[in-house]
Amino acid sequence: MIKMIWAMDENHLIGKGNLLPWHYPKDLEYFKKMTESIAVLMGDMTYQSLKTYYKSKPLPFKKIYVANLEDVFYEDAVRVSDLFEFLKDTKEDLMVIGGKTIYQLALPYADKLYITYVLKAYQGDVYFPNFDLNDFKLVWYQVEEGLIFSEYARVKP
Ligand SMILES: NC(=O)c1ccc[n+]([C@@H]2O[C@H](COP(=O)([O-])OP(=O)(O)OC[C@H]3O[C@@H](n4cnc5c(N)ncnc54)[C@H](OP(=O)(O)O)[C@@H]3O)[C@@H](O)[C@H]2O)c1
Repeated sequence: MIKMIWAMDENHLIGKGNLLPWHYPKDLEYFKKMTESIAVLMGDMTYQSLKTYYKSKPLPFKKIYVANLEDVFYEDAVRVSDLFEFLKDTKEDLMVIGGKTIYQLALPYADKLYITYVLKAYQGDVYFPNFDLNDFKLVWYQVEEGLIFSEYARVKP
């Protein structure tokens, strides 16, 4: 099953200078809980971003896939050179964790979406690509201070 998780503000902003534009400990806690025991897929920019947060500490995921068109070696991750082939064929339980490019390419394959709505407008430079929730139904949500956590499941035709 392919799942995606992201946090976005009122204008669908998701990034600033290759970092998160905000600091919400509750959302970080939630992200950690949702990703710690699952294989994750991310783009190279997001991988580099997480490395700046974790510094020399290992990234806290069961298995890491990094999408990169360039032929680079990752000590702690498996490089995905052909994202479409990978998403089409994978039998793994997978959480897509960004960023913009990888969300855009992976959305058609996603069975579940975990969206954190940040109830404010921030400054930044990367926005979630245009998307349509018509193919999904809301199955759960929880309101926290300044945030709404939500879970959507794809409606099977
Ligand atoms: N708010 C959130 O929840 C959240 C979560 C994660 C990230 N972010 C933010 O998102 C931003 C980063 O997003 P981004 O779009 O710049 O980068 P990204 O999605 O993290 O990484 C893009 C990478 O994907 C590679 N790629 C593109 N097409 C591919 C394909 N078909 N197969 C394999 N690899 C492919 C690119 O390779 P090339 O370089 O060779 O083109 C590039 O290295 C940052 O600001 C970050 O903070 C926010």
